[in-house]
Amino acid sequence: MNETMRSYLDAPMDRHGTHCEKWDHLKHYFGRDDLIAMWVADMDFPTVPQVRDAIIERAKHAVYGYTDDGENDRRAEADWLLRRHGLAVDPDWILYSPGVVDSIFFCVSAFTGPDDAILIQPPVYGPFYRAAELYGRKLALNPLLNTPEGWRIDFDDLEQKFRDGARMMILCSPHNPVGRVWTREELEKVVALANAYGVMIVSDEIHADFAFDGHGQVRLLALEGAKKHVMLTSATKSFNLAGLRQSSIVVADPEVREKLKKTLAMCHADAPNIFGAIAQTAAYTHGDEWMDAVVEYVRENRDYAVEFFHEKLPQIGCRPQEGTYLMWLDFNGLGMGHDEVKRMLVDEARVALNEGTFFGPAGRGWFRMNLATQRRNVVRTLEHIHTAIRSR
Ligand SMILES: Cc1ncc(COP(=O)(O)O)c(C=O)c1O
Repeated sequence: MNETMRSYLDAPMDRHGTHCEKWDHLKHYFGRDDLIAMWVADMDFPTVPQVRDAIIERAKHAVYGYTDDGENDRRAEADWLLRRHGLAVDPDWILYSPGVVDSIFFCVSAFTGPDDAILIQPPVYGPFYRAAELYGRKLALNPLLNTPEGWRIDFDDLEQKFRDGARMMILCSPHNPVGRVWTREELEKVVALANAYGVMIVSDEIHADFAFDGHGQVRLLALEGAKKHVMLTSATKSFNLAGLRQSSIVVADPEVREKLKKTLAMCHADAPNIFGAIAQTAAYTHGDEWMDAVVEYVRENRDYAVEFFHEKLPQIGCRPQEGTYLMWLDFNGLGMGHDEVKRMLVDEARVALNEGTFFGPAGRGWFRMNLATQRRNVVRTLEHIHTAIRSR
């Protein structure tokens, strides 16, 4: 990354007083506000300059009425998918939705009935559980295996759960929080099993632009035999636009697409957010250099953190994640118990990390650290944790 871009990302960023959940609401979520915010998954980096400029330009026109597609919006997204991921998508395959979690809920509604089971792979992003719970569906759990070589899918169990009647699978690709970028081989196996048992895959690929060390993210729709499944994407995670509430559901199969269109219409949720659409198109059009720099910056943060844990806090389990800007940390080796670690992190280290239990009961003793922030925040967080543990 060039020095201009590094300074742009590295400059101190005060987000206080910006309606910001991560920094402004620490007291509400953690009981005190003097913490370094390393939790909720957005970034402390300013977005692509052309995105900010496009929003300002549109905001100058003081009518913010009902919104529809700009001329180039879906094409810009399709071009990004082709340019960055080698995936050819017809712009007509793209449906808008306010958010990826919203899209998961729409899929539950469209593809499952009250007695159906939905398969998820714990530990996994909390709203995946909520999707089943809120809609009164059953959950089929296919826990990931924590092996010495890294996190793996238990394919025997997956097949058993499909055989037992799961109707839909919510795949997290790359996986939050374990940080795996699934290989082509793994994904092909998942698709083959889903096809064999008639299971609909809904692939949440919101983190897909964050893959490191040559772990190329394979997009679901790039796979042979996956055309009847559903891929969820969004520029919000990649370009730090989550507050704009805009995302896409990409569906190749016309029948499946019609079904989802109907569900979106039933929820009156198919129109884009005016600033979301403008920001997304500017990001997909002008964001390559910025995206490359952010991925590099996060990778450097990750490498710094991994080295720190290995050298100074080897009791805390930590693997370099292959994708996402989130690091999944195992504090069980401290022998303190989940609640005591939680208290120590907040009251002694003064850092705000996500509790592992947000990702399911197997997350006890685990915590998730967000690395999409200025290096100084990462350095201070690690030093605070180190000092807190050493002082015990
Ligand atoms: C895997 C995953 N899916 C979805 C979301 C949220 O998506 P949205 O804000 O578009 O609902 C997140 C946010 O952290 C996430 O990690």
